[in-house]
Formats: sequence, C-alpha cells, structure tokens
Amino acid sequence: MVIVTCLGNSQKIAKGIARRLKAKYMKTLVSTFPDGDRYMKFSKKVKGQKIIIVQSFQPNPQQSLLNVVFAATGAKQQGARSVVVCVPYLAYMRQDKAFNPGEVISSRVMAKLLNNSVDRLVTIDPHLHRYRSMKEIFKIKAANLCANSLIGAYVKKHVKNAVVIGPDWESYQWAEEVASIAGVECTVFEKTRYSSKKVSEKMLKQVDMKGKNVVIVDDIISTGHTIAEASKKAKSLGAKSVMAIGVHGLFVLDAIKLMKKAGVSKVVSTNTISHKTNGIDVTGMLSDWLRKN
Ligand code: R5P
Repeated sequence: MVIVTCLGNSQKIAKGIARRLKAKYMKTLVSTFPDGDRYMKFSKKVKGQKIIIVQSFQPNPQQSLLNVVFAATGAKQQGARSVVVCVPYLAYMRQDKAFNPGEVISSRVMAKLLNNSVDRLVTIDPHLHRYRSMKEIFKIKAANLCANSLIGAYVKKHVKNAVVIGPDWESYQWAEEVASIAGVECTVFEKTRYSSKKVSEKMLKQVDMKGKNVVIVDDIISTGHTIAEASKKAKSLGAKSVMAIGVHGLFVLDAIKLMKKAGVSKVVSTNTISHKTNGIDVTGMLSDWLRKN
C-alpha cells in the first residue's frame, strides 16, 4: 500500500497526489513539547508501506527540512518499506559554493541530511547553477522535474502578443523553452547584482518590445528586485505590459509591492509554494513521477 502524508506545507498537493495515485492520505501530527522538543505522530500503521512525504521547504525551511528528516527516519524505524520525499520547492540550493571564506555550503548539508534519511526524492526546478546535476550532491535517486511545459501552456493560453524575457543568463534555460512552447520570441537580460537588494539589467539579444506584452520568467522570485529591474528595462524599451511568472514564489519582504511599483501588472507562480499568486498547478506532474517511481 502507498500512504501519502505532509508535515504542514503542501497539504493541497499531498491530498491531490493521494487522490490521483489512489493512495491513502495520512495525517501526521507535528507539534512541540513545552520545552520546544519536536513531537511527531503518524495516524496510521506505516509498517511494510511505501510512504510519500510531501513537503515544500517554504515557508519555514529549517523546520521543514528537519520535519522531513524526523518523519522519514521515524517511518523507517517503524518498519516502512520505503520513504519517498516530494519537495515541490527545494530550499538551500542557491548556496552552492562558499562565496566567502568560512561559509557553510548549505545545499550540501541539506542533501546529506536527506541522503541519510529518505530513499528517493523528487522536486521541481531546483536552483541548479554551479551544480550541473543533482548527482553532485545526492546519493539517493533525486529527480528534478521542470515546470516549463506548464508555464509555456499558461502563456500560450493567457497572453496575446507576448515576448518572453529571462532576467539573467541562468533563467534563459526556462525562458527559451517557455517561449518556444508558447510560440513567441524570447530574449535574455544580463543581470548585475550589487547586493541582495541592488540589481541592474541590460538586454543582450535584441528583440522589439514595442507594444508587446512582456512575460518575465524566472525560477525563483525572492525579494523581487531581479523582476523589478527587468520590468523597468522592458518598459523603457516600449513594452505595453509586463507580467512576471516565477516557478517558486518566495516573495520575501515587500516583493509584490516592489514589482508592482516597477510596472509589473500581474504576478503568477506555480503552487510549489502556497501563495495567492498561484496560477499554475504542479500536482499532476509530481503525481505522474510518483506513480512510476
Ligand atoms: C538567481 O540566480 C535566481 O534565478 C533568481 O533570479 C533570484 O533568486 C531572484 O532573487 P530576487 O527576487 O531576490 O531578485
């Protein structure tokens, strides 16, 4: 039997996966003792079962990661046959090197904790920048699915007369495919980041934006500065409107306000992180992978 559970985040996706897989959905109680120690209790017998834990690592990345380690290790100790973790948004991937002496490479720490507690992992568009593949940090089978087909279909259906922009070189891999699925032109901006809150943009491949509905596509929207600067640039090049699509909408601080102020009229995200901007559902994509693995 297959049992699907979640640990606070991604409950809607977890229930959707259970329905599509015709699996049982199990509530897991996650709480703390008065001294702060973690308490966790499964509501079903997990012995002999395949357990799928669905847990986005936002919000609360620290707690989410540790909850997965606790649940997976606990399930194994109670005799679960296998434990698969489905992490729609995998945090920590951006610290993929020590940028300054003494920095801990948190992506490696996160991967080590998961390598030691789960059998398989699936995620969507992890921030693979300096790592070329998940194999560089994961010993377990770690699959990375891509939301481009869903985003491309969204653009095709909802945006007329569109041009797709990748706000930096890394995002070109998403932007180019999204544009080709939507059947529209694409360009990339060159981003210079001066600090976490200061970014500038310059267009590399020349594309006419006059009168176009520009769609900026990025894997992560965090503080919104990257999108805001790309939007200002697109507007200065004559864009009629600007929409931002992020696979993972973290939206920290005043990200939404900042992007709106910079001319972004609509922000859309996938539901890898639950947010009111969620307009693209990844449940089907994750279910298809989980059915086969
Ligand atoms: C960076 O490499 C990512 O692809 C995103 O462009 C970045 O994380 C966005 O961050 P922010 O919204 O804070 O500018």
